[in-house]
Parts: sequence; C-alpha cells; structure tokens
Amino acid sequence: MAKNKKQHIGLIFGGNSSEHDVSKRSAHNIFDAMDKDKYQVSLFLMTKSGYILGNKDSARVFNGEPEDEVAKEALDRLDQKNPLAPIINLSEVANIDVFFPIIHGNLGEDGTIQGLLRLLQKPYVGTGVLGSAMSFDKDITKKILQLAGVTTTRYEVVTPMTSEQFTYQQLSDELGETLFVKPANQGSSVGIHKVENEEDYREGIRDAFRYDSKVLVEEAIEGPEELEISVLGNHHPIVSKVGAIKVPKSDAFYTYDNKFVDASHVEFDVPVDIPASLSEEITKMGLATYQALGLKGMARIDYLVSQDGKPYVSEVNTLPGFTNISLYPQLFAASGISYTELIDRLIQLAIEEYERQSKILYDFKPLDPKDQVIDNKK
Ligand SMILES: Nc1ncnc2c1ncn2[C@@H]1O[C@H](COP(=O)(O)OP(=O)(O)O)[C@@H](O)[C@H]1O
Ligand SMILES: [Mg+2]
Repeated sequence: MAKNKKQHIGLIFGGNSSEHDVSKRSAHNIFDAMDKDKYQVSLFLMTKSGYILGNKDSARVFNGEPEDEVAKEALDRLDQKNPLAPIINLSEVANIDVFFPIIHGNLGEDGTIQGLLRLLQKPYVGTGVLGSAMSFDKDITKKILQLAGVTTTRYEVVTPMTSEQFTYQQLSDELGETLFVKPANQGSSVGIHKVENEEDYREGIRDAFRYDSKVLVEEAIEGPEELEISVLGNHHPIVSKVGAIKVPKSDAFYTYDNKFVDASHVEFDVPVDIPASLSEEITKMGLATYQALGLKGMARIDYLVSQDGKPYVSEVNTLPGFTNISLYPQLFAASGISYTELIDRLIQLAIEEYERQSKILYDFKPLDPKDQVIDNKK
C-alpha cells in the first residue's frame, strides 16, 4: 500500500530585528496549529546575529534551552578555516518541500530571505522578493499606493543628503503642526517620533537615522482610529472582517512599549462595529494595495481613520504576527477560517505560486530558428 507521504515544512523564525521574540512566539503557534498527520516540520532558527541554525539546534531552543548558548555552540562547530561558513545547512534544505518563513521585520519581511529561498528553488509562504522589499519600505509603499490611487498620508523623505534642506517650520507649513518622523525600513514603532516643534523634530530625525538613512516625515492623523484587515490569497485574494486597535487617549500613539512591553491597556476589537460603507471602502483599498504591491499568500494591511471618517492606508505587513494576541489569525478566525485551515491554505498558496513561477521561468523554450521560416508548401 502506498504510504501517504507527509509534506515536509521548514519553519524559519527568529531573526535579527526587534521582533525576534515575537517571531519565536508566532512560530510556536504555527507549529502547534499545524496538522501533524499532514506535515512533518523542521525548524530553522535565525539567531540574532543572522546565522540560521539547523533543525537539531533550533529544536533545542524551541524547547526552552537558552538561545545564546545553543547559538554559540553551533557557531563554534563551524569550520573555522572557512570564514564564509554556510548561513544555512544545504543538506537539510534539500528535504524541505515548502518553507514557512515567519521572521518579522529585517531580513524576513524585506525580501532578503525570499531571495535566498528563491535561489534555493524552494516554494515559500508569502510575498516574493520585490513585493516584500516594496512593502517593507514605507516610502516605496506610499509611492506605489499613490500611483495606484490608494489614499495614504502625505509625507516628505529626509536623507542625510537632503536633511539640511528641511526645517520643522517648512515641513509643518506643508504637512501640519504635528508630524510623525519615522525610519523608512523599520517596524514595531522603533525610531518613531511624534513632534510638534523644531527641537523635537531635530531630535526625532537624529534618532530615526540610527535605524535607517531614509526617514519619512508624515502628516499626522489626529486621534486616529487604527483599523486592520487580513488578506489571504495569490491572484484572487480574500479579505477578512475589519479589526480595530484601541490605544488609550492618554498615550501619544501605538508605541513599542504598548505593543510589546505592556500591552495590557491596549484593546482589540475583532471584528469592529463600523459603518458598512467604511468597511467596504477599506476592503476595496486593501485589495488595490495587494494588487499594486504584488502581494502573495498573506498580508495584514493597517489603516488610520481620521476623525471625519476618512481612511488612509498606513502600512503593509507581509509576514504579520501569529502570536496569541495577533490580529492576522484572529481576524480570519472571526471570518470563519480556523488557525489550522489558515496554515493549510498558506502552504497550498506557496506551492501554487512556486509552480506558476517555475512555469514562467523554466518552461520557456526559445523558438528554433527553423520553426520561424514559413513553409509555403504546406
Ligand atoms: N501619520 C500618522 N498619524 C497618526 N498616527 C501615526 C501616523 N503614523 C504612525 N502613527 C502611529 O504610530 C504607530 C506606528 O506607526 P507605523 O507607521 O505603523 O510603524 P510600524 O511599522 O513601526 O508599526 C501607528 O500604529 C500609529 O499609532
Ligand atoms: Mg504599524
């Protein structure tokens, strides 16, 4: 009797961003929710220094051993004579059918790991290289959205080359008194400043430059409602119900601290009760965003809604959190798709997209010049 072979999934997690621990929690949830009759799972932990550990070492960390010790042991075992030690054990990669990278932020969400997996010719969950890179860069995201006619906040880009040209006064004349200063390629609210005068503006720019040499200075949406949707699919994506994040009025905005240090006073409304016209508009904008950025597999799209009810796409997360309090899976659960089914679908979508791409890349046969000569005798 033919044995039903399990699909072998490579779960990549960790990473060198501020969301390293969030990624670990996401990976635990995904692992737990996976149907083990269908899937065999190998673990690949990307350490904080960016080295990808194999299944054995990763499993030790996954099961509670101190990461720093396991990582040090693994690095010590590397061939010291070869400074270009492999960043991933290629013999382990060969057995994997589909990779599920769940590294939030840097290296995971910015197209880097997608490039590696593409080079290795393996299907992987989520958006490809270009879509990931575009969605991770808040400046490029907004430029693409503007071209696609999707409303997003107005902003200026400040780089070390142009920083002398801008003063708070000029920027506030153009964008309003309250400004958000943020690194283009970051996440978790790290390096973000809400500023209302020259001194805070200068300090905000200085700090944001610690994280990226490209900084956005954005118009502020005053007292915004923060809404989110989850999208799932490749070429015919589906959209979840809308969720809301309720940040207390006393907090300046949704900061790193109230995301990760003490989230106890932040509330989530899943799904949120909003007028049907707003939820329709948000869905429409979400699909236009998905299409414009070439997103695949999944994305969580975040909105700011002004007090007069106008929605702005604020940012796109191509590998959103899967922790217990994360909105991406919760929004689909509220829309009737369970955690386990969500993972099944994401893996299936990865295979479909890989097959579609492989067709384009490898089935292309150049015409034989002989075939181009029209045979008049026939
Ligand atoms: N233009 C804006 N107007 C009002 N609030 C903003 C604006 N930009 C950012 N914020 C606040 O800062 C938070 C983090 O900004 P965001 O652009 O989502 O960056 P991150 O990728 O770090 O989450 C948002 O959730 C919101 O609370
Ligand atoms: Mg955000």
